[in-house]
Amino acid sequence: MSFKVQPTPPARPNRCQLFGPGSNTKLHPKMAASAADVINLDLEDAVAPDDKPQARKNIIEAINTLDWGKKTVCVRINGLDTPYWYRDVVEVMEETNGRLDMIMIPKVGCAADVYAVDALVSAIEAAKGSTKRIALEVIIETAAGLAHVEEIAASSPRMQAMSLGAADFAASMGMSTTGIGGTQKNYYMLADATAEGGERAISYPDPWHHVTSAIVSACRTHGILPVDGPYGDFSDPEGYRAQARRSATMGMVGKWAIHPNQIALANEVFTPSEEAVAEAREILAAMEEATRTGAGAAVYKGRLVDLASIRQAEVIVKQSEMIAAS
Ligand code: COA
Ligand code: MG
Repeated sequence: MSFKVQPTPPARPNRCQLFGPGSNTKLHPKMAASAADVINLDLEDAVAPDDKPQARKNIIEAINTLDWGKKTVCVRINGLDTPYWYRDVVEVMEETNGRLDMIMIPKVGCAADVYAVDALVSAIEAAKGSTKRIALEVIIETAAGLAHVEEIAASSPRMQAMSLGAADFAASMGMSTTGIGGTQKNYYMLADATAEGGERAISYPDPWHHVTSAIVSACRTHGILPVDGPYGDFSDPEGYRAQARRSATMGMVGKWAIHPNQIALANEVFTPSEEAVAEAREILAAMEEATRTGAGAAVYKGRLVDLASIRQAEVIVKQSEMIAAS
């Protein structure tokens, strides 16, 4: 391993990030009462341009008056290519009373985008004499975001999380897709024709695989949390679950919900199951026994386990302990 030890990400649960528009005040108490770990009050694409000033006021009111429990409370500001973002940061930071935890920057394209927000956030914190450090999270959802993903992950000590925004990403890349995330019907493999001339099997590879892997590796290198973004069809729980399971398998720690019926699905997929935790503990015990007898590897249920298996098992056990403790 490199002598640079991989930093550990923030030890807080991030299984589900629930979004709701700042303009829809009816949703805010429901978001506060939900089972999501992270709340994203939106000022960006779910809010129409004329509604931005009122949405800021609504969000300030909601943050200051609702009981958010142990949730991580975040506001998604507008992109740095808009005239709105600086007021989003200034008003929300100046007029909230300490319950705001994080600001989400959409469509980040390079490290300097994060630097700009960091500078503004730092100035406001200093002016307020605030000791709480507001965290930053970003969305990778442009070609530039993917091209510069590693420098973005390294851009600021405030950085805590990075999400994949599939719909904007697809648009920026010129991908011909519709729908937000998940399987794409024109992205398929067709098996060779057989001599029998039967129907040729179709399979659907994951069009988000590369960007997901790039985000996970940038995040893991710099100790931040990789998160899967939205799944637009909130009437398709199986599609959501399949997408979430792929992301979890790839190393992501959670997924967005854009409707309350997606919260339990995210919590289910990103909470290690009792069986998985029990198996991980058994592997650790098997390896402990092997180490005691001087062996570097052991056999567990007919499979090889070695030092890498310990590290894999520890990921599951640590994740489950962190969730239980929060
Ligand atoms: N958070 C909390 N509660 C929500 C919610 C959310 N994001 N979305 C809907 N609800 C509530 C509704 O108020 C309703 O509550 P009720 O049963 O007490 O009346 C219930 O969940 C069922 O809602 P439903 O009628 O199925 O949906 P809707 O038509 O009210 O809203 C959307 C659908 C998509 C407009 C809405 O879910 C939404 O705004 N989602 C967030 C969009 C967003 O923020 N996008 C930006 C990130 S991609
Ligand atoms: Mg977007």
